[in-house]
Amino acid sequence: MKVLVIGGGGREHALVWALHRSPRVTTLRCAPGNAGTAAIAENVAIPADDVDGLVAHAAGEKYDLVVVGPEGPLVAGIADRLGELHIPVFGPSAAASRMEGSKVFSKEFMARHRIPTAAFQVFRDEAEAREHLLSEDTVYPLVVKADGLAAGKGVILADTPREAVDAATGMLSGRDFGAAGRTIVVEEMLTGTEASFFILADGDHVVELATCQDYKRALDGDQGLNTGGMGTYSPSAFLDDATRRTVMDTIVAPTIAGMQAEGAPYRGVLFIGIMLTDEGPQVLEYNCRFGDPETQVLLPRLDGDWLELLLASACGTLDQVPVAWLDQAAVCVVMAAGGYPGSYGKGARIDGLDRADAGDGIIVFHAGTALGEDGSVRTSGGRVLGVTAMGRDIPDARNRAYRAVAGIRWEGEQHRNDIGADAAATLEEIRE
Ligand code: AMP
Ligand code: GLY
Repeated sequence: MKVLVIGGGGREHALVWALHRSPRVTTLRCAPGNAGTAAIAENVAIPADDVDGLVAHAAGEKYDLVVVGPEGPLVAGIADRLGELHIPVFGPSAAASRMEGSKVFSKEFMARHRIPTAAFQVFRDEAEAREHLLSEDTVYPLVVKADGLAAGKGVILADTPREAVDAATGMLSGRDFGAAGRTIVVEEMLTGTEASFFILADGDHVVELATCQDYKRALDGDQGLNTGGMGTYSPSAFLDDATRRTVMDTIVAPTIAGMQAEGAPYRGVLFIGIMLTDEGPQVLEYNCRFGDPETQVLLPRLDGDWLELLLASACGTLDQVPVAWLDQAAVCVVMAAGGYPGSYGKGARIDGLDRADAGDGIIVFHAGTALGEDGSVRTSGGRVLGVTAMGRDIPDARNRAYRAVAGIRWEGEQHRNDIGADAAATLEEIRE
């Protein structure tokens, strides 16, 4: 089979890694890819946001499957365009991608289908938003969200009316996120523990994937700025069987049935950000793609062939593929460029990769890397590597991951030292 993966980050290296292991994949390409994907697939120099270029390329190549990594091309309709060419595609249509592409759509969808989520209001007008945010009846803290895609930066947690008004006017005026902020959602602040929930769907059938936890802040102890994610582990220490069943019944089932009923059947992976509140699990957000770096711990845990699952999601046959998970844990530690998520340098030479890659149960996923002219691997982004280790449990996987991280170096490298530490501590408590 001839397969194309779209994207060039750690998530896409993990997808390429998983597909590379499938006995049925004969040609594997990645557009645009990175230094990691180049080692096991052929990189195609088309950026992930060049939908016209990607569609033209795919039309000429007659792929058996196109796997779309990031949300941008999905929201822009790449799955619909490839579908018109009869190319099987893993990823939702533009209509179904609105689950991530428009917070207003997703909140109103949840309201229509009684899916538990924070109470909310929608504003398009600055004066009306200001009046609401300054009203004595409005409860603080609250959350202000840009409607459209804002590269993970469009959510502001506001403790005071002043912060909320600043965020709302910055968005509604178009100053902060352009068109994506011209409509906003103002919602109730939920409290509890956050967890990531992943399912595959083919429009009709649903497969639950393994659970995981991510770490969003830049520094140890959840300090510092928000990032795309500094590490992950799987399985989650917080999503027990009973909670997972509640999520499947109260959130996943009505979501998939609702999309089907509204004429936008959901195909692909649905990544649901959940808050485990005292009143039960509630939806924080939907994403229409795999998470990054969640993918780097989910994919290695499947006891099977990802090609079969991704193809079945594209073709509507998910009910025919058995799914089993390895009885092992995975931990991924992100190694980032100094300064990330603020400004950072590029082009530093990365040492120690060969040794780390040769480690037992260690997979070094590349994110922001590129091959230098001398053939060396250089940094080229904020999040540079995702070092994943498998182990018999979280503490074991965590030790292995950090041993591998210690052997990789470049000028200015930074990482968190506490990925999976809270899970390891929770496990200790359970054992005592
Ligand atoms: P989102 O992009 O909607 O997931 O928001 C990004 C992050 O903001 C989430 O992972 C949460 O940490 C936080 N967040 C979003 N909405 C809420 C909410 N209603 N209550 C509390 N935290 C939230
Ligand atoms: N790690 C969070 C995300 O991919 O959205």
